[in-house]
Amino acid sequence: MSEQKFHLHDQADPIDEAHVRGKFGSRLGFMLAAVGSAIGLGNIWGFPYKMGTSGGAVFLIVYLVCIIFVAAPAMLVELSLGRHGQTSPVGTYKKIAPGTPWFLNGFMGVMAGFVILSFYSVIAGWVIKYFIVGLGKGFSEFTAEHSEDVLRGLQVGLTEPLVYQALAMILTGVIIYMGIEKGIERAAKYLMPLLFVLLILIVVRSVTLKGAGAGLEFMFKPDFSKLNAQTVTSALSQAFFTLSVGMGAMLTYASYVSKDIHLGRSAIMIAGMDTGVAILAGLAIFPAVFAFGLEASGGPGLIFVTLPQIFAQMGFLGHLVGTAFFFLIFIAALTSMISILEPVVTWLVDDVNLKRHLATGLATTGAFLLGIPACLSASDKGVLGEYTVSLFGNELRFFDLLENLSINLMLPLGGLVACLFLLLGWKKRAAMEEVAGSEGNPDHWAIKLWYYTAITLAPVGIACVLVTWIYGFVNPTK
Ligand code: PHE
Repeated sequence: MSEQKFHLHDQADPIDEAHVRGKFGSRLGFMLAAVGSAIGLGNIWGFPYKMGTSGGAVFLIVYLVCIIFVAAPAMLVELSLGRHGQTSPVGTYKKIAPGTPWFLNGFMGVMAGFVILSFYSVIAGWVIKYFIVGLGKGFSEFTAEHSEDVLRGLQVGLTEPLVYQALAMILTGVIIYMGIEKGIERAAKYLMPLLFVLLILIVVRSVTLKGAGAGLEFMFKPDFSKLNAQTVTSALSQAFFTLSVGMGAMLTYASYVSKDIHLGRSAIMIAGMDTGVAILAGLAIFPAVFAFGLEASGGPGLIFVTLPQIFAQMGFLGHLVGTAFFFLIFIAALTSMISILEPVVTWLVDDVNLKRHLATGLATTGAFLLGIPACLSASDKGVLGEYTVSLFGNELRFFDLLENLSINLMLPLGGLVACLFLLLGWKKRAAMEEVAGSEGNPDHWAIKLWYYTAITLAPVGIACVLVTWIYGFVNPTK
């Protein structure tokens, strides 16, 4: 440990030092990074497409329940573990409970990060492509058919999608290498609010389209006959994914936070803003989907097919807004990718004793290599689209395999174990004090409420959903 600190000192890199010492510049810096991690493709790409395929308003209700009672409490467990441990996910468990196998959860998180990044970068690559389209001709030609053609080009192509994916990975690697504070925090400070404003602009356009009412109904008028096990599984895994919980991303960020910050309040703000953006993304998309007579259950292609059609309707303003919008989605994706890669890098630095630049290079290259087959199997028409892996009778393309295993299994499992660790491996008092921070009151009722939620409702909820998912996965005919 001390030897590794010496290495990092040796590099005489002020940004690296800020990293190792565990200091985000300020509360704002931490909040930006954490909110930047939470808000990403999960909100703007994942949430609408999952809501579209899983029953609309019913999905929204279950999702909100999952956020409030399960994912947000689990996130707070991670945040408090991270600040307490002041090191990597693996090291944190080792530090708090030496000589026990809990650290394996940190390890699974690192692996999950690796897996998530490999397919996340594929979608981030597509976003880059749309941004470039915006820089060029714009979206005026984007009829339903043309939108689908452009997306299909990315799904079936070989070089083009790989180049964009590589670009996304390289940018992530470069920023991680240069450090978070100077680059991404400063950028996020201006860009995230701008994303908000643009989203609202698109929402206004979308809900005022003729026939938009059906979209609002789809989002807010629940049809409980659509409620089933798949809705719940999908909502819970989406809640984990969107709050960046279950793989140590929040844990890692919190390990850089100073003691005076109230983690409970931070968690509420992160969850609140993240949920706000997800709902705005839904409002931007569904009214337009219905107004244009498209399929709400269009799946992963939804934002790439639907949004450009809205921009096409907006004339020159659409060109501007569309271009800015894809740029900002990319920034949102980038701030998330950084947080997905950071635990991997921190682990390689803290536990494997690699130097930071080497760790960054290895992690980025590894995730990119794993991402190549994901990129080429994102659709069944893709270059590797016809190759499937057979698991318990499920035929999964490589992309789906990575997405399914990480989102449906690894993240909930990681969150479950973190909650169980709070119950079995850590002292209640220490956890509550960590949440309150040095200035807060650890005996506040809200912190008690969190504690009991996180050791009862949250793990029981996750366990039920996980068992259901595993059962469904193992018996695919059902
Ligand atoms: N929360 C990010 C999103 O919604 C994804 C993410 C998952 C980031 C896991 C970090 C860890 O896009």
